[in-house]
Amino acid sequence: MGRIPFMAGNWKMNRTVAEARELVREIKKAIAGVEDVEVAVAPPFTALYAVRQEVEGSSVRLGAQNLYWEEKGAYTGEVSPLMLKEIGCHYVIVGHSERRQLFGETDETVNRRIKAALAHGLAPIFCIGETLQEREDGKTFAVVERQIEGGLKGIGTGDLGHLVIAYEPVWAIGTGKTATPEQAEEVHRFIREKVKILHSVGFAESLRIQYGGSVTPENVKGLMAQKDIDGALVGGASLTSKTFAKIVRFREL
Ligand code: 13P
Repeated sequence: MGRIPFMAGNWKMNRTVAEARELVREIKKAIAGVEDVEVAVAPPFTALYAVRQEVEGSSVRLGAQNLYWEEKGAYTGEVSPLMLKEIGCHYVIVGHSERRQLFGETDETVNRRIKAALAHGLAPIFCIGETLQEREDGKTFAVVERQIEGGLKGIGTGDLGHLVIAYEPVWAIGTGKTATPEQAEEVHRFIREKVKILHSVGFAESLRIQYGGSVTPENVKGLMAQKDIDGALVGGASLTSKTFAKIVRFREL
């Protein structure tokens, strides 16, 4: 059974409510008729409700960019899994490198967020990836292994639900410097093998592993031709309907 390709747009801290509505309307139009690729968008929290209204009845799925692990309480500035569920989120990005680097996220807090997401029926898009320094020091596999073990700690295979892993080498994010398809595939294969050992062959074979980091219509086809690359988590190029739709329609390129 093949894995259905999954393209997700991480809008990061971009788009007001009005802009988000317009962008998602354009995306819907531009990807009309595509049936063999799953598509999701992850707008900022403030635009989730509006985007949910726009995607209702379409195949575009909604994702959030983060969540907190408690359901409610005195956690000023945080958003709970219950709130994301109510608003119609299917996915939630967890452990993005920007959160790890700029907001103190650790493997342990990532683990708590993944558990909370799964407990509430949200599918985490679990982000991992090495920095340039770590790659140059030959630590890529060790870092990715530590992130997987830490992020999935204490979670049984049967509880992983529709978890997705996104491999995003930090040096490739927003830099225009993508990993070559071979560089990416090498790490994707390693991730799948690791998940086989930690969980099961069956789960690992059905697990979708996205690549992220300067994905564009120009490089998506080469990446998607790799055996263990099942989709993309797209930043910059997801903010324009035309480029995002080309990525979604990678087979037609
Ligand atoms: P860019 O596509 O802008 O490099 O961002 C990638 C990313 O961080 C997606 O989560």
